[in-house]
Amino acid sequence: MISTKISKRMGCITSFHVMDVMARAKTLEVSGRDIVHMEVGEPDFATAQPVIDEGIRFLRSGNVHYTKAQGLPQLREKIAQNYQQSYGVEVSPERIFITPGASGALSVALASLLDVGDEVLIADPGYPCNSNQIALFGGKVKAVNVTQHSNYQLSAKGVDDAWAESVKGVVIASPSNPTGTVIARDQLAELMGVVADKQGFLISDEIYHGLVYDGRATSALEISRDVFIANSFSKFYGMTGWRLGWLVVPDAAVDAANRLMQNLYIAAPTHSQYAALAAFNEDTQQILNARREEFQRRRDVLYAGLSDLGFVLGKKPEGAFYIYADGSSFTDDSYAFAIALLEKQGVAITPGIDFGSNGAKQHVRFAYTTSLERIELGLQRIKVFLES
Ligand SMILES: Cc1ncc(COP(=O)(O)O)c(C=O)c1O
Repeated sequence: MISTKISKRMGCITSFHVMDVMARAKTLEVSGRDIVHMEVGEPDFATAQPVIDEGIRFLRSGNVHYTKAQGLPQLREKIAQNYQQSYGVEVSPERIFITPGASGALSVALASLLDVGDEVLIADPGYPCNSNQIALFGGKVKAVNVTQHSNYQLSAKGVDDAWAESVKGVVIASPSNPTGTVIARDQLAELMGVVADKQGFLISDEIYHGLVYDGRATSALEISRDVFIANSFSKFYGMTGWRLGWLVVPDAAVDAANRLMQNLYIAAPTHSQYAALAAFNEDTQQILNARREEFQRRRDVLYAGLSDLGFVLGKKPEGAFYIYADGSSFTDDSYAFAIALLEKQGVAITPGIDFGSNGAKQHVRFAYTTSLERIELGLQRIKVFLES
């Protein structure tokens, strides 16, 4: 008999509980219910018009062949210029790989770094795909609990305490998903000092970097060139469905990353790479900056509203488009809470259990990827739900 036996490795790959929430929300919508969507982890805005125009112009040429595995040289050049302009750091385009989303960037980084059994430190709560990818490449996640008190980011001490011989490196994400918090520059430098002392690797997931509302986030590249940076056109650039991101690697990893890109993906989508050439133009940047201001207004309204409702929130999250709320006065089953809120009041949110196990049953994530009016409506409905 031909086998369809699924690998043991798949036992480590979790699914998203929010998918149940989304599926139920869809069913309710089909039956005529109005649902406020605060579960979605992508901008509600359409891709900026200049990017679409550039993509269409390229598609019309019909010339949609593979690019080099590393990506279009002119796009890598633009990304390098952006590092110079926005962060004041020199990054050679030779160290930049265009990937299918930050997801592709993370897979190339992890595949080039991990041997079977290597442990990787990662914050809990954190973005679950990063943990699942570590498992996929034979690594083991060593979760380090982070809380409101550490601004939900790993600290130098946390990393130092958790280090063991089996630990090979650390993955950080700033701003973080699900918490939106940013690691401060001195905290990042201290953490990187510990990683360097241990001769570990650092992967810095900087996918939400354009979406920072108070000041700007520090790139790990400002502190060392020996780091792996995953970034993306998905969030600030509003290009989730184009599946385009990038990876910056240290000089020593260029050859490995190139071989992995060739074998895993051949190259990132060609039309998306051409479209993204317009992402750094002045007119596109103006559109994206106005959207960032709109996200900031939404964040402020949602933060104040959730706080008034009795959710315990840390300091106001500086970035991304999420608020991670401690709802322990309302529930110790975040999944049941999310489902009941959806059924009774038509508000979709993400249960904390999607992001780890640290306080996960008492926390929920609200995404402000919907309009101010819908956020206000959502808050009114949550109030009714909590009072019922
Ligand atoms: C922290 C983080 N990293 C990586 C990703 C992957 O994004 P993409 O593959 O669309 O670039 C996401 C998506 O939500 C994310 O939140």
